[in-house]
Amino acid sequence: MGHVALVGMMGVGKSSLARKAARLGRALFRDSDAVVSQRMSKPIADIFAEDGEEAFREMEHKVLSDLLEHHEPTIISTGGGAVLREDNRLLLNHRATVVWLQGDISAIARRLANSPNPRPLVPRGDVSEMEATLSRLLAERRHLYEAVADIALDVSEIGQAAAVEAVAGAIRDSGSFCGSPSNH
Ligand code: S3P
Repeated sequence: MGHVALVGMMGVGKSSLARKAARLGRALFRDSDAVVSQRMSKPIADIFAEDGEEAFREMEHKVLSDLLEHHEPTIISTGGGAVLREDNRLLLNHRATVVWLQGDISAIARRLANSPNPRPLVPRGDVSEMEATLSRLLAERRHLYEAVADIALDVSEIGQAAAVEAVAGAIRDSGSFCGSPSNH
């Protein structure tokens, strides 16, 4: 089963890149946060506020595990904190080519400040405060992204189009792309 999973900080652009790469690579696209939100019938911010982060992480784990079971090649956009759990890192390592998407933290802070989709771990406010929070989270997580990643792509250096090409290339190279649905 050749899947590609995008990991990396919130707001770096994993979902939009995964969607475009899936179109280009003729693979399925799934967004882990969207599936969590659908299964719990509420937005991510409400899950954090009403059920707590632990409940979110439990569901995130189940969703990742299910998405990685799919029989068709899928490009999965994971939540930024998916790498925190060792069981998720093992799942990702065993069942996907993992792409670590990197970007410029100040650009991410500006994007999150204007995003309609609130991130509970980075409350909206002063952009420089958001940037400081993001830097702290990245410092805590960097070694986990590094440990799980097969490929690292810095969008701020190569640009989105090249990153889309690279991710589409990764799904093609992942072993199960047959080019024809009848081969599945
Ligand atoms: C989180 C990232 C978010 C979402 C939740 C927690 C994190 O996903 O899962 O707010 O811990 O970094 P995105 O990376 O898609 O924003």
